[in-house]
Amino acid sequence: MSHRGGMSLAPFVPSPPEVVRKMLEVAGVSYGETVYDLGCGNGGIVIMAAREFGAKCVGIEMRKDLADKATEEAKNQRIDQRVKILNANCLDIDISDADVVTLYLTSSGNLKLKDKLEKELKTKVRIVSHDFEMSGWTPHKIYREPPGHTIYLYVKGT
Ligand SMILES: C[S@@+](CC[C@H](N)C(=O)[O-])C[C@H]1O[C@@H](n2cnc3c(N)ncnc32)[C@H](O)[C@@H]1O
Repeated sequence: MSHRGGMSLAPFVPSPPEVVRKMLEVAGVSYGETVYDLGCGNGGIVIMAAREFGAKCVGIEMRKDLADKATEEAKNQRIDQRVKILNANCLDIDISDADVVTLYLTSSGNLKLKDKLEKELKTKVRIVSHDFEMSGWTPHKIYREPPGHTIYLYVKGT
């Protein structure tokens, strides 16, 4: 398998807004914290984190069309000062200043990020994953809501 061939960790499926809100609530995102969404799609998570929680956000998205859409939306909502969108492979970006990391990928996508998260993130960083576990990590808590969705909360170093 080529390096490029292994780059996609998941197809684009946006998390519904009520799931996004719950993810950010259970992560306890507070004003001024730094939130990364790895594979940010059209930016729904980072935009809500900036607008409703006052976070500084970085969304990383490998599809240019989606990265452009997210950038445009942040600009339209006048929160582009607090939302940075990078059109890149999230495996290549330094995320060591994160306080919170959000994921909505796949089980195998999560696994490809596991080493990076373990090496790069500070202790106490909260990682929230929509629907997919991080195999080998013990969740701090599992939320089976909103109905039909599961949110896994992990806290680094616990
Ligand atoms: C299931 S969607 C989730 C979108 C957003 N996080 C949300 O919850 O609404 C996953 C996104 O990850 C992107 N993606 C997959 N592999 C990636 C990679 N290696 N680097 C950056 N983005 C990636 C896909 O293009 C897709 O937009």
